[in-house]
Amino acid sequence: MTQAKLVVVANRLPVGRAPDGGWQRAPGGLVTALDPVMRQADGAWVGWPGQPDLDVEPFDVEGTWLIPVPLSADEVELYYEGFSNDTIWPLYHDVIAAPRYRRPWWEAYVTVNRRFAEAAAEAAAPDATVWVQDYQLQLVPAMLREARPDLTIGYFHHIPFPAYGLYSQLPWRRQVLLGLLGADVIGFQRVADAGNFARAVRRLFKYDTRATGIRVPRPDGSTHLALAKAFPISIDTASYIELARRPDIRARAKEIRQGLGNPSCILLGVDRLDYTKGIEHRLKAFGELLDEGRLKVEDVTLVQVASPSRERVGTYAQLRDEIELRVGRINGDSDTVGHTSIRYLHQSFPKEEMVALYLAADVMLVTALRDGMNLVAKEYLAARTDNRGVLVLSEFAGAHDELGSAVIVNPHDIEGLKDAIMSAVEMSPAEQRRRMRVLRRRVREHDVQHWSQEFLDALAATRERSK
Ligand code: G6P
Repeated sequence: MTQAKLVVVANRLPVGRAPDGGWQRAPGGLVTALDPVMRQADGAWVGWPGQPDLDVEPFDVEGTWLIPVPLSADEVELYYEGFSNDTIWPLYHDVIAAPRYRRPWWEAYVTVNRRFAEAAAEAAAPDATVWVQDYQLQLVPAMLREARPDLTIGYFHHIPFPAYGLYSQLPWRRQVLLGLLGADVIGFQRVADAGNFARAVRRLFKYDTRATGIRVPRPDGSTHLALAKAFPISIDTASYIELARRPDIRARAKEIRQGLGNPSCILLGVDRLDYTKGIEHRLKAFGELLDEGRLKVEDVTLVQVASPSRERVGTYAQLRDEIELRVGRINGDSDTVGHTSIRYLHQSFPKEEMVALYLAADVMLVTALRDGMNLVAKEYLAARTDNRGVLVLSEFAGAHDELGSAVIVNPHDIEGLKDAIMSAVEMSPAEQRRRMRVLRRRVREHDVQHWSQEFLDALAATRERSK
C-alpha cells in the first residue's frame, strides 16, 4: 500500500455490510464532503469496521482506501460502550444522564486510542495531514505527534465540550486535554465549546491562551501553537435539494400523508434514540396539547422516528422503555379507530425516505437538551425547496447559533414548548416563507464542503506558520 497524504481517523469506517456480504459505503455527510479531497490526496480512512472481533485487511471502496482497526468484544464493551458512551458522552452533554467513571474503561480507552494512532502513523506519508474525528479518539492527536512529529494533525470534536465545573469531574481530565493538545487545530461546533476547552486548559495547565491560540510547551523547551476554534459542521446540502426535487420522492411524501389519514398538520421528530435529544419532553408537550384540546387527533399526527442506538448501554435501554411507555399511553388515551396521534418508528431509514418525511412534515421538532450541532435540523431546511414548513429548534443544540430564525425553544419549559408548537402549527404561509428563506440561505452557503475546506485550510495555515 502506498502511504496517504491525507488520513482521516474516526471510530467508525464509513461503510456497512452489503446484502451480498461485501462492504458498501455508508452515505454520511462527512464521507461525501471529504470525497474529492481524499481522491486528490490518495486519502486513507482509519476506523473500526463496526463488529467485534473482525480483523480484515485494508480494502478499497469506491476509491477510498479503508484501514480497519479491530476491536475485541471486551474492547467494544469497555472502550466504546463504557468510556466513550457511558463516561464521556453523558459528561460532555452536561450530565443529563450520570456519567460512570470506571478505571478498566479508561485503560481500554488508552489501549484502543493507541491502536488507532499506530494505524494512522503507519498509513501516513512523510509530512502528511491526519484528521482525527470525535470524542472516542481524544488521545490520538498527542500519541500521533509523539510518534510522527512531521505530521500536521487536526482534530474535530463533533459533540459539545462542557463547562469546566462539569469537565473537572473527569478523573483523567489532564490526560484527555493533553491528548487533544497534540493537534495543530482543535475544531469545535460552537464558539462556546472552544471557550470551555481553552478555559479548562488554563485552569489545569496555566498555559498561555490568547484569542484562539494556545501555546503548548514541548519537552525541549520550545512551544507548539494549537488553534482551538469553532467550525460549525453542516450537511451535503446539494444532495438533499436534489432528492427533494425528485418526482418519486415528492409522490412518496404525498403517500405518507395519505397513509396517516390526511391530517391537516404533520409534526415530525427524527433522532437517534438518545437521552440528549429531549424526545420525552417533546412527547409530554404534545400529549398535554391533545389532553387540553388545543390539538385534535383528527387534525394532527406526530411522526417520531427514533433510530436504534447503543442498545447495550443501560441508560439507552432504559430510555427506550420510558419512551415506548409514554407513546403507548398517549396513543391509548387520544387515538380514535381511524386516527393515531403518534406514529412511532424505532427504525432507521434510507436518505430517500427521510427526505420524503421532511417533505411531508409541516413542523419539524428538534428539542434536544444538549446537542453538538443537530444535522437533522439542517436536513429538514435543505429539503424544503418550497420554502414551506416550520423548524422548532432547541436553544441547546449547536445549530441554534446559526439558525436563530427558527422558532426557538427551551425544551425544559413544557408550557413554553407547547406554545411554540402551537405557534408553529398556526404559522401563516407568508411567515413560514419569510423564515425559511433566511434559514435555507444559511444551509446552502454553509454546507459540509464549506466546513471541511475551512478546517483543512486552517490546518494548512498552521503548517505554513511552523515552517
Ligand atoms: C454522534 C457522534 C458520532 C457517532 C454518532 C453515532 O453523532 O458524534 O461520533 O458516530 O453519534 O453513534 P455511534 O455510537 O453509533 O457511532
